Amino acid sequence: MKRDNFSGTFGVLVALAGSAIGLGNLWRFPYLVGTNGGAAFILIYLLFVFVLCLPILISEFLVGRRSQSNAVRAFTTLAPKSKWGIVGVLGVLGAIAILSFYSVVGGWTLNYAVKAISMDLLHTSEQVTDTFNSMVTSPFEPVIYMFLFLLLTAGVIIGGIKNGIERFSKIMMPILFVMIVMIAVRSVTLPGAGAGIEFLFKPDFSKVTFETLLVALGQAFFSLSIGCGAVLTYASYVKKSENIVKTSALTAFSDAIFAMIAGLAVMPAVFAFGVSPTEGPGLVFIILPEIFEQLPAGGFIAILFFFILLIAAVTSSISLMEVIVTYIIEEFRLSRKIAILVTLFIATILGTLCSLSQGVLSQIRIFGLNIFDFFDSLSANVLMTLGGLLLVLFVGWKLKKEDFMDEISNSGTLNHKILYGAIYFLIRYIAPIVILTIMIFGLI
Ligand code: PHE
Repeated sequence: MKRDNFSGTFGVLVALAGSAIGLGNLWRFPYLVGTNGGAAFILIYLLFVFVLCLPILISEFLVGRRSQSNAVRAFTTLAPKSKWGIVGVLGVLGAIAILSFYSVVGGWTLNYAVKAISMDLLHTSEQVTDTFNSMVTSPFEPVIYMFLFLLLTAGVIIGGIKNGIERFSKIMMPILFVMIVMIAVRSVTLPGAGAGIEFLFKPDFSKVTFETLLVALGQAFFSLSIGCGAVLTYASYVKKSENIVKTSALTAFSDAIFAMIAGLAVMPAVFAFGVSPTEGPGLVFIILPEIFEQLPAGGFIAILFFFILLIAAVTSSISLMEVIVTYIIEEFRLSRKIAILVTLFIATILGTLCSLSQGVLSQIRIFGLNIFDFFDSLSANVLMTLGGLLLVLFVGWKLKKEDFMDEISNSGTLNHKILYGAIYFLIRYIAPIVILTIMIFGLI
C-alpha cells in the first residue's frame, strides 16, 4: 500500500505547529502561569522547551521519518528483533488516554462557542461559575459535545494526510494566529493591564520549588506534543528532502510564541478586572466570559475566542487520533474508515467516563483522582515523560550514530556538523539525565 504524505515544507510545518498549538497553550498554559507565579515559571518553561524538549522533538521526528511507519513499527523497523516496540505501544496508549480527556475539554469548548453565539455567556460572575459547573457536571450535555468534537476530529482525518490534515491546518493556523494577536492587543491596552504585564515579565525566582520544575517540564512535553507518538506519526509522512532540525525548531518556536501571546491575551485582562490569577483550570471557562462581558463588543470577542480555542483543539486532536488510526491501519490491515470507527468507539467510551467523572461518577477514584484527572496526570506525568525518556535513550544509545547523522543531514546534503554534534550530545546525555532526575524526584 502506498503511504500518503505531506506535500511540502509549509504543509509539514503547519501540521506540526497545529498539533503543538492547542488547548495546551490557550487553556492550560495561562492557568499554570497563574498558579505557578508568572514570569519565573515562563522562563523555566522556555528553557525546557528549547534545551530539553527541542532535542526530543528532533529525535521523535527523526525516528518517524527514517522508519516511515506507525509509532510501534517505527522502533521494530529501526531495531529489528528488539523490545523497543514497547516505546511505541506506550505512545499509542498515551495517545488514547490524552484523546479521551482532551475531547472532553474540546467538547466544553464547542459548547462555549455555541453558547457564545446564542449570547448565553454574558452574565454576572456567580452565573458564569454556575454556567460552567452545571455544564461540566451534567450527565448529557458535555458527553454529547465531546462526541461532536470527536466527530469533528474524525471528519478531518478521514480525508487522509494531504487532503485532510494538511489542508485543514493550512487554512486554520494562520487565521488562528491573527485572531489571538487581536485579542492580545485588546487585552494589553485595557486600563490596569500593567500589573498583568509585570506578572508575565518580571521574574521572582524566590518562589521556585521543585514542583515548579515538574509542572513546567510536563507542560513543555504536553504543549509540544512529544512523547506519545504524535510527532513520530506525522513525521512518518514527511518526505526525505525536508529539513528536520529547521522544521522542529520552527515548530517549537511557534508553539512558544503562541503560548506567550496566549499569556498576553489572558493575564493582563485578568489583572485589569481584578480576577485572581490562581483561579486554576477553570480560568478560561469561568473567568473569560466575565472579562468579555466587560469589554466593548464582548459578545463578539467571546465568539471569536471560543472558536479560536476550538480550532486549536481540533488541529491537536487530529494528531492524537492519527497516532491510533495509522497504527490500526498498518498493524491490522484495516481501511482508514474502519480504523477511524474503531478509534471513535474507544475514545467515546473512555471520553464518556472522563466526562461523567466530573459529575455522576465523581466518587470513582483511582489513586485518589477522578477518572478525568487520572487520565490527565497518567498521560502528562507518566506516559509522555517516560515515552520521551525511552525515545532519547533509543536515539542516543540504540540507533547507530551514523544512522542519526545520515537522517538528520538528509544523507549528507545538509552540512551543519557542529550543530548536529551538539544536538546529539543533548539527546545522548543531557536529556536523559535531566528527565530521569525530575521524574525520580517527582515520584518521591
Ligand atoms: N500539544 C497539544 C496542545 O497543546 C496537545 C497534544 C498533546 C497533542 C500530545 C498531541 C499530542 O494542546
